[in-house]
Amino acid sequence: MEKEVLIRAKNLCKTYATGNEQYHAIKNIDVEIYKGDFTVIMGNSGSGKSTLLYLLSGLDTITAGEVYFQGARLDKLKEKELAELRAKKIGYIHQNNNLIPDLTLLENVALPGYIAKTAKQLVLPKAASLLKAMSLEEQLNRLPSQTSGGQQQRAAIARSLVNDPEVIFADEPTGSLNYDQGVAVLDILTNLNRNGQSIIMITHDIKAACRADRLIMIKDGKIEGIINFDQLEETNLQDRENIIFSYISGKE
Ligand SMILES: Nc1ncnc2c1ncn2[C@@H]1O[C@H](COP(=O)(O)OP(=O)(O)O)[C@@H](O)[C@H]1O
Ligand SMILES: [Mg+2]
Repeated sequence: MEKEVLIRAKNLCKTYATGNEQYHAIKNIDVEIYKGDFTVIMGNSGSGKSTLLYLLSGLDTITAGEVYFQGARLDKLKEKELAELRAKKIGYIHQNNNLIPDLTLLENVALPGYIAKTAKQLVLPKAASLLKAMSLEEQLNRLPSQTSGGQQQRAAIARSLVNDPEVIFADEPTGSLNYDQGVAVLDILTNLNRNGQSIIMITHDIKAACRADRLIMIKDGKIEGIINFDQLEETNLQDRENIIFSYISGKE
């Protein structure tokens, strides 16, 4: 079955100005992200992964090229239209969760609902049920500092889901977690994806990358290669780990 394109980047470039210098963080990237896919982005530190995620999600402005979100030019939207699209269609999970320290988990999860102007009587029960689905029903009224790193990251996932986004972007969501907490977070993302949620996740971790339908390798601001696990014969996690490992060692 032909996959539906969710996001398309054409000739995408991002240049950061640092003093008198220009740094080309993303160089002429062409890529398509498909609806319903679990897309994973891998690459060395500094290769441009976070920058790419900012550009594909409209969180930062592009220097050149085009970004299409569901067929419409994201980079041509007015600020207000972009803010609205981001609030309604995009969930974002940051590496260090970015929860607001003086709001409870419940208030944190509800906040994007208020920003999207959903009525309070709809948002609060939704936020509570999402937290419950993340096994955080006991922690609803705690501040982030009164919960563990794994609990905070699960709350960040709940927050990313409150507006039923088209796509979830996750920038190293397990980067600051221990092994068990990381697996729990990946299992949640995998389950969401099995239920149809599109996910784009950055990771350093080969085991986490094995969750992908498509694995995009970034090097020095360019796409170095793509592994389409969904087009290979049935692979289990161990097969995938071996494929990624031999891919990476072949490039060195
Ligand atoms: N705001 C910025 N100003 C200048 N340079 C930046 C900025 N953000 C990132 N960079 C540089 O761009 C490159 C890519 O960064 P980033 O996308 O964060 O990489 P990754 O997420 O793969 O580690 C790095 O060399 C980084 O130092
Ligand atoms: Mg990064």
